[in-house]
Amino acid sequence: MQFSHKKIETNATLLMVLSFMVVTIGGLVEIAPLFYLQNTIEKVEGMRPYTPLELAGRNIYIREGCYVCHSQMIRPFRDETERYGHYSLAAESMYDHPFQWGSKRTGPDLARVGEKYSDEWHRAHLANPRSVVPESIMPAYGFLETTDLNMKDAGEHLKANQWVGVPYSDDQIANAQADLVAQASVDGAEAMLARYPKAQARDYDGHPGRVTEMDALIAYLQMLGTLVDFSAYQAEANVR
Ligand code: HEC
Repeated sequence: MQFSHKKIETNATLLMVLSFMVVTIGGLVEIAPLFYLQNTIEKVEGMRPYTPLELAGRNIYIREGCYVCHSQMIRPFRDETERYGHYSLAAESMYDHPFQWGSKRTGPDLARVGEKYSDEWHRAHLANPRSVVPESIMPAYGFLETTDLNMKDAGEHLKANQWVGVPYSDDQIANAQADLVAQASVDGAEAMLARYPKAQARDYDGHPGRVTEMDALIAYLQMLGTLVDFSAYQAEANVR
């Protein structure tokens, strides 16, 4: 025993290989079960998968690198909760692939930005942030308003999410493109609202009859943090 240990301790490569193996096995034992335990993520009332339009907006958010400057995770500290609202729950990102927690805040956290501003404000802000916040250093994204949204692959995006575990129904996938158009229109969204409770439907970009990337991005921003009713959640927590 003593002899074999000496062999390990005097051979740097062997020591590194064996330490790596031990750490890997230990790490797997600790982490792997969390992916399979149902109670790792506590279910929370109100959470639903993204609508096709919100998902398209989320894809634009990722494409444009908004996450480089914005986080979407409110930490459980007083300064954060006083500024942004209730701290983020694990369940709030359960349908996020990939999650947008972020690691840097050049701009504010966006986890609960939904319904904080009007669509007009977002439109003006995205087209030219300095027009509403003079000291802003955020880049302008005016081209979103003049770029038609690619809708052809709406169903495919839902399918890809279904494949990684988001519970989209076949009905939702089959109607993805119709639901996407309906959500960005002034009326005719009843079927889509039945499929996605608590969704908002309207013309987001000020161009009725046209579905632009601006429609999708604002629809996404306006739903962030609006699904869970925290007044009910906090009351329940107090009872416990
Ligand atoms: C270079 C960093 C940077 C990038 C990239 C960036 N932002 Fe910002 N953002 C900021 C800063 C700084 C602010 C605060 C000043 C302001 O309101 O413009 C801000 C503010 C915001 C706000 C207002 C938040 C609030 O609560 O007042 C929203 C919404 C927003 N950004 C969305 C976006 C979106 C969507 C994108 C991607 C299309 C994006 N940002 C990209 C830096 C950035």
